[in-house]
Amino acid sequence: MELINKIFTTNYIKSLIEEDEEIARFRKESEDRNIPIIHEEVANFIKVILHLLKPLKILELGTAVGFSSFFMAKIIDNDNLEIKTIERRDSFVDEASKNLERLNYKGNIEILPGDALEILENLEEKFDLVFIDAAKSKYLDFLPYCFNLLKKDGIIISDNVLYKGMIANDDLVERRQKTIVRKMRKYLKTISNHPSMESSVLPLGDGLAITVKKGETYE
Ligand SMILES: C[S@@+](CC[C@H](N)C(=O)[O-])C[C@H]1O[C@@H](n2cnc3c(N)ncnc32)[C@H](O)[C@@H]1O
Repeated sequence: MELINKIFTTNYIKSLIEEDEEIARFRKESEDRNIPIIHEEVANFIKVILHLLKPLKILELGTAVGFSSFFMAKIIDNDNLEIKTIERRDSFVDEASKNLERLNYKGNIEILPGDALEILENLEEKFDLVFIDAAKSKYLDFLPYCFNLLKKDGIIISDNVLYKGMIANDDLVERRQKTIVRKMRKYLKTISNHPSMESSVLPLGDGLAITVKKGETYE
C-alpha cells in the first residue's frame, strides 16, 4: 500500500509478526484468491486492542469468508465470546459458514445474512466492540446505529478509512471514487470531532480508525 505507507516500512512491520499456523493458513488461502481480508499489520494492531479491551460481545460489519471473525475469536479464546457478523453477499455467507464450521476457536460466531443497515436497525443488544469493514460509502450511515449499539467505553474499529490514500490527497482521487471519498471524509470528520467520541486515525494498512464511546448521546 505504497500510497499510504512505504513498502519497506510495511514489510519491516510485517516481518515482526508471527501469526498462528491456522490463522496464517486461512490468510494465505484467502489472499491467494484476492479476498479483501484485514491486512496482517492491521490484524496485529487489532490483536493488541483485543487484549486491552477483552471484549466478549462483538459486532462485525462485513464477514467476507469469515477471516476477521475467526481471527478475533482465536485471539480472545473465551467460551463466552459472542460475535455477530453481517454479510450481504450470499456466496460469502455460505463460504464463511463452512469455514467457521471446520475451524477451531472458542465461543460462538453467528453470521447475519443481509444488508448491514437493515440488520443494524433491528439489533437491540449492546456490544463491547464494533468492527466496521463493509461498504466504504456507508460508514457514516452505519455510525449512529453502531454508536447506539455500543456500551459506554466500547470501541469502534473502522478499516480502509484512508482508501489507497485518496481520502488524504485530492490528486489521488479516481473519478469513479469521488462519492466514496466525500462520504469517508465526512465520516472521519464526524468521529474526530464528535463530543461523545474520541478517535484516532492511523496510517496502518489501508487506514484504520479507532473510536472510543465516551458519552451516551449521539445527537
Ligand atoms: C473488506 S470485506 C470484509 C473482510 C473481513 N472483515 C475480513 O477481514 O476477513 C467487506 C465485506 O463487506 C460486505 N459488505 C459490503 N457492504 C455491505 C453491506 N452494506 N451490508 C453487508 N455486507 C456488506 C462485502 O460483501 C464484503 O464481503
